[in-house]
Amino acid sequence: MTKEDILQALREVHHPAKADRDLVEIGMVHDVEITDNKVVVTLEFPKRRDPLAEYLIGSARAALIRHLPSSVASEVKTVVVEDEKPKKKGLNLGLEQLAEVRHIVGIASGKGGVGKSTVAVNLACALARLGYKVGLADADVYGPSIPVMTGTEGAVPAAEPGAEEGQELIIPLEKFGVKWMSIGYFAERGQALIWRGPMACNALKQMILQVKWGPLDFLLVDMPPGTGDIHISLVQDIPMEGAVIVTTPQTVALADVEKGVNMFRNENVNRPIFGLVENMAWFTPEAHPDEKYYIFGRDGGADMARELGVDLLGRIPLVQGIRESGDAGEPAALGSRPDGLAFVELAGKLAEKLG
Ligand SMILES: Nc1ncnc2c1ncn2[C@@H]1O[C@H](COP(=O)(O)OP(=O)(O)O)[C@@H](O)[C@H]1O
Ligand SMILES: [Mg+2]
Repeated sequence: MTKEDILQALREVHHPAKADRDLVEIGMVHDVEITDNKVVVTLEFPKRRDPLAEYLIGSARAALIRHLPSSVASEVKTVVVEDEKPKKKGLNLGLEQLAEVRHIVGIASGKGGVGKSTVAVNLACALARLGYKVGLADADVYGPSIPVMTGTEGAVPAAEPGAEEGQELIIPLEKFGVKWMSIGYFAERGQALIWRGPMACNALKQMILQVKWGPLDFLLVDMPPGTGDIHISLVQDIPMEGAVIVTTPQTVALADVEKGVNMFRNENVNRPIFGLVENMAWFTPEAHPDEKYYIFGRDGGADMARELGVDLLGRIPLVQGIRESGDAGEPAALGSRPDGLAFVELAGKLAEKLG
């Protein structure tokens, strides 16, 4: 038996979070010791805890048992190797600024215009209202709307030197008890942001990784609309715990929502969907606050959630006040009207779900 035989066996073990490449390919095999009647394989893990460690060790053991003659014993050991120091130059950003963030939740949708940013901003304010420490990163580099919705347009975030030489950290803005960050703060008012793919990708990673968030219970990420490569790359590079998907109730939206859900269920991403938020679930006229008109159908959101096997976390009405408060930079979730309270209820559900 040769080292090559052992490596061949270990090539059968694939790392689900590393694009399904095998242990040998991703350099996790630290050492192979072969004696007359025993094989000891040492697998290398980075310092940051790999949630898949147990699974990988078990699979490596099984692969060895399958390939070795029964007279040869085998053992799989592990060794922890310090993470390579992330380089601070350029865009080689590490995860240090997220070290004190407990839950990172993506707010996504299959397509634009369903109220994703409205839900993200109000959910952030509602979580803060419930006493949580909250931040929101506007990752919609093509159409950042957080500055307008929070009345922070024109504000310029401060920067300060980070712990390492040449490193600069952006200080998020604070308003309504929430820390806000958006690429909109770095663009001229009214100027269209035109990014090519990789630039957009880098810009939005900066909006999350180069920001001094400090301790947070929740960091919400307002994802760009759609389900392209940019999204998959974002979810893979940021330790996003899972996602909330925003939709409107029409059945025609189902296909889009499904795309949004599948983006997170994709084998290279594989993060849970915490639930669906049905926005514009019914219409309530300003003058008749007790009336509900189900103009897009009555149970669209609930049916969709059932069909996709996810929870319906909340239902938000279509009311003029939500649009107006968004335009005025005073999120509805701060008020005591029923539409504001719908967001508080939603926040409670999400917080409960994430423990
Ligand atoms: N529940 C609602 N009631 C009234 N207007 C809403 C509601 N949700 C969103 N809007 C409005 O619809 C428009 C699009 O919402 P936005 O949150 O920007 O969508 P997205 O981020 O999905 O593109 C905005 O003008 C917003 O104020
Ligand atoms: Mg938006």
